[in-house]
Amino acid sequence: MSSSLFRTKKISNIIAEGGSDDPHGQHGLKRVLTVRDLTFFGIAAILGAGSFSSLGGAVFNGGPGVVVLFIITAIACAFTAFCYSEFASRIPVAGSAYTYAYASFGELFAWVIGWALIMEYSIGNIYVAFSWSDYFTSFLDKMGVHVPEWLSTSYMEAKGAVADNGNKDDIAAWNNAPVMGGLRIIFDLPALVINMLITYLVYRGIKESRNFSNVMVVLKMAVVLLVILVGGYLVFSNGLTHNWVPPNDEGVHSFMPNGFSGVMAAVAGVFFAYIGFDAVSVMAEESKDPQRDLPKGMIYSLVICTIVYILLTLVLTGAVNYRNFDGVGDPLAFIFEEQNLNLGWMQLLVAVCAVVAMTSVLLVFQMGQPRIWMSMSRDGLLPPVFQKIHHKFKTPSFATIVTGLVVGIPILFTDKTFVLDFTSIATLFAFVLVCGGVLLIPAKQKEHGKFNLPYVNGQFIFPLIIFGSMACLFAFTKNYFGSIFNFDFSSNTEYVEGKISFMDAALPNISIIIFWLVAIILSIAAFIKKYSLIPLMGLITCLYLLTGMTKSNWVWFLGWLAIGLVIYFLYGYKKSKLATNEISAVPVNEKNNGPDYLKKFED
Ligand code: ALA
Repeated sequence: MSSSLFRTKKISNIIAEGGSDDPHGQHGLKRVLTVRDLTFFGIAAILGAGSFSSLGGAVFNGGPGVVVLFIITAIACAFTAFCYSEFASRIPVAGSAYTYAYASFGELFAWVIGWALIMEYSIGNIYVAFSWSDYFTSFLDKMGVHVPEWLSTSYMEAKGAVADNGNKDDIAAWNNAPVMGGLRIIFDLPALVINMLITYLVYRGIKESRNFSNVMVVLKMAVVLLVILVGGYLVFSNGLTHNWVPPNDEGVHSFMPNGFSGVMAAVAGVFFAYIGFDAVSVMAEESKDPQRDLPKGMIYSLVICTIVYILLTLVLTGAVNYRNFDGVGDPLAFIFEEQNLNLGWMQLLVAVCAVVAMTSVLLVFQMGQPRIWMSMSRDGLLPPVFQKIHHKFKTPSFATIVTGLVVGIPILFTDKTFVLDFTSIATLFAFVLVCGGVLLIPAKQKEHGKFNLPYVNGQFIFPLIIFGSMACLFAFTKNYFGSIFNFDFSSNTEYVEGKISFMDAALPNISIIIFWLVAIILSIAAFIKKYSLIPLMGLITCLYLLTGMTKSNWVWFLGWLAIGLVIYFLYGYKKSKLATNEISAVPVNEKNNGPDYLKKFED
């Protein structure tokens, strides 16, 4: 029995269990998805609440300069997508980053990733369900149907609004809610109902879900393009391009009116907008040719969405001064309001489209979560019932129902801001481990017809990029390194007024210092080990995005990981198939090269 926390599963075992040698999927899930389906799936997962909802807050923080953050994030995601693709082409089974970590870092990290992915898939879906409900109820309102406020917001949001004298609708929800046993009955009914409907659809099966998803993607892409074309035309024809360099508080015109720190403040919202391309990798066992098609599906969908985001941000910030997006939850419809571009029919169209867009995101994530749990259950880290496949629908039935509950129950107790931050930090963390994992697995020979991650020797290039960036910052910015080591916050008004703690004020500096230290260590490792450049760049760009997370993000995230570790030691550590010798671990000192029948893998 292997008792090591880092016991690693053989790639050949993972593939054998996943049924990838069973092209017709007779013993597992149905293999029906093509490149086009997977690309659609990616877009279905990516384009949703991030662009339709959280983009407003992002633009308010960073102004038109948020485009830069979209580009940085796209670069980080593209490098990460290459790493996912490399893993997906080697280990074409469901489970995504979780499965990849099992083959590279070992069981403990695999569990940690699986646990973090619950936040990406299930908790992320809570945010999307809330946003869906916002657009749906405002659409009904435009149609003359009013859903009472206490049935269309979360308890936490209503309570917070009363405390901060915030959003009027939320305050109305609090004041008008029926009271039972001293408790105000406030919950988001549309969010709950859509979650139930999606769970049912996913339970019924992949083919039905795929058709539904493809129709929704076509529809939402069409309307997003219309927003870009109509909005873009009006920006130019109304002579609004000056909005791209708005004045800041000092009256200086700039593309980044709040500086780069303002742009970085939008990181959780912007990153959330990109989450989803990785969900494609979860569909490995339902894909016709996963080794060839998964990477293509992931990268195509990422490229398409990046172009859409850049154009959308430019249209939004051109149409309306960025300051007007304060508290705007439906930015794409907002730009067509009377006081802005004044185009009523577009407002309605966008509202309908948003509902469609977010439905498809819900669908993809709701399909992804059970498949990850199924993989974890196969490994003995979760009870066997999680891998139960429905005899008729061929879907992971029990895990699908549990997903519905994990999304549905917190809808009653959480709010949007909380789940947005929580989801983004956990997903970034998983991306960091996937990129790191690619560095650890041995190189393989190129195989025709399959994805092959190009090997670019990072020995000199990576240290050059890191030390070159440091030299540029040193030469061209005013006291960059001095300021990150400055822990005197007497000029920080929020800190002086006691609104934030010392730790809150110090965290951005601490994060950046840790970032540069890690970058230097990685440069040395790259130099010695000749690491591949693409995963190195994925790792460093994702780590950089993590520096934008706040203290409360970290506290909640670390708390969540601690709970996960307790569960692992109480259950998975003992029941793991590696522990019970049902499958063998990779012997110490042996490289995890892959299946025996693919002896093409080389050291
Ligand atoms: N990227 C997905 C969305 O924006 C999660 O809804």
